[in-house]
Amino acid sequence: MQDIGVAVVGAGFIGPVHVEGLRRAGVNVTGILGVSDDESNTAAAHLGLPRAYRRFEEILDSAAVAAVHIATPNRLHFALARQALQAGKHVLCEKPLAMNSRESAELVALAAQSNLAAGVNYNIRYYPLCLQMREMVRSGEVGRVFSVCGSYVQDWLLYPTDYNWRVLAEEGGDLRAVADIGTHWLDLIHAITGLEVESVCADLATVHPVRQRPKGEVETFSGKSGRVIATEPVEINTEDSGCILLRFAGGGRGCLWVSQVTAGRKNCLRLELAGSGGAMAWNSEQPNELWIGHRERANELLLRDPALVYDAVRPYISFPGGHNEGFPDTFKQCFRAFYGYIRQGDFAAPPTFPTFADGHREIVLCEAILASHRQRQWVPVAAAGER
Ligand SMILES: NC(=O)c1ccc[n+]([C@@H]2O[C@H](COP(=O)([O-])OP(=O)(O)OC[C@H]3O[C@@H](n4cnc5c(N)ncnc54)[C@H](O)[C@@H]3O)[C@@H](O)[C@H]2O)c1
Repeated sequence: MQDIGVAVVGAGFIGPVHVEGLRRAGVNVTGILGVSDDESNTAAAHLGLPRAYRRFEEILDSAAVAAVHIATPNRLHFALARQALQAGKHVLCEKPLAMNSRESAELVALAAQSNLAAGVNYNIRYYPLCLQMREMVRSGEVGRVFSVCGSYVQDWLLYPTDYNWRVLAEEGGDLRAVADIGTHWLDLIHAITGLEVESVCADLATVHPVRQRPKGEVETFSGKSGRVIATEPVEINTEDSGCILLRFAGGGRGCLWVSQVTAGRKNCLRLELAGSGGAMAWNSEQPNELWIGHRERANELLLRDPALVYDAVRPYISFPGGHNEGFPDTFKQCFRAFYGYIRQGDFAAPPTFPTFADGHREIVLCEAILASHRQRQWVPVAAAGER
C-alpha cells in the first residue's frame, strides 16, 4: 500500500498513533500538520516523517496525498473532512465525525457522491475478540440477543483541576463522556449485533460544574503528569458521567454507563451480551480474553489465538496466541481494512470499515440521548442516514 500517500492532521495524542498504525499497515505517510509550524516540525522530526506541513491547503493541493486522516479537536472535523472530500482525497476522520447531525448528514451525502472512501475511526471494532463476538452472533451461536449491558469508564478527568478542550461544548460538542467514549461502546454493539437503537432514556451528570483551565493548551491525558501550572476557573456544561437505557429494534434491551471520573479505571470498556444460546463478556483492559457463558456446561475463557477463532477473524490477527495485541493494533487493523478497500477500487462494494454513515448514526444517537436527559423521558432515535 506504499502507493497511497496519506497526510495526518493533528499531532497531539492520537495523530501520532495514526502515523504509527499507518506505517505498520504498510501505508506511506507523507507528513503531518499540527496547529502551528512548531508543532508540525516537532511531530515530523519525532516521528521521522519527510514533511511538516504548514497549512491544510498544502495537503489538499499535493498530488502525493491520496488520503487525509483527521485527528484534531472535534469542532474542526466537519470543515476539514468536507474540504478533503471536495479536493478528491479519501478521508479517515476521528470520532465524532462532526458537531451535530446536520453536519454529519452533509458529510454522508458528500461522501456518497464522491467515489472516495470515507471512514470514521471506530477502532475498537478491530480487537480480534470483538470481531469474534460479531461472528458468534452472525453464526447464530449465541442465538437471539436479549440484552447488551456495559460501560466505558476512565479516570483522567476525575479532579476539578483536570482539563482538556473536550470539557467545553464549543470545542467537543454538547455531549462529552457519551460522545467521546460512549459512542465507541454504542458503535461496537452495533458492529457486533447489527441491532439498531430505537429509543433511549438518559440521565447525565456534571460532577464538576467548574474546572480549572491551565493557561495554554493541554494534550489529552497529559494532566496526570503532576506539573503545577497557572489556571483560571471555567464553567462546564458537558457531562462527566451518565447512564443510558436502550431499546433495540426487535425487542432487545441495553444499558450503558459512561464516566470520565472513576478512579482507577484508566480506559475500560466492558460489555456483557446475553442471548438465547449463551452469553459473552469482554473488557478492553484484558482484550485478549473472551468469557463465554453457558447454562448446561462449564463456561469458557477464549484466549485470542488465530487457531481458535472464526475464519473471518483470522486476517485481523497478526501475532500467535499468547503474543498479546492491544490498542495500537486496532488502529493498524482498521487502516488495513480501509486501505485494502481503497486498493480494490470498487467504491460501490459494501464497506469493510466504519463509514461516515456509522459516524452519522452515532451523532443522531447522541442527540437523542441529550434530548432524553433534558426532557427526563424516553426519546425515539430518528433514522440514521444511509451511506
Ligand atoms: N479512536 C480513538 O481511540 C481516539 C482516542 C483519542 C482521541 N480520539 C479523537 O481524536 C481527536 C483528537 O484527540 P486527541 O486526544 O489527539 O486531542 P489532542 O488535544 O491531544 O490533540 C489534538 C491535536 O490537534 C492539533 N490541532 C488543533 N487545531 C489544529 C488545526 N487547525 N490544524 C491542525 N492541527 C490542529 C492540536 O494542536 C493537537 O496537536 C478527537 O476528535 C478525539 O475524539 C480518538
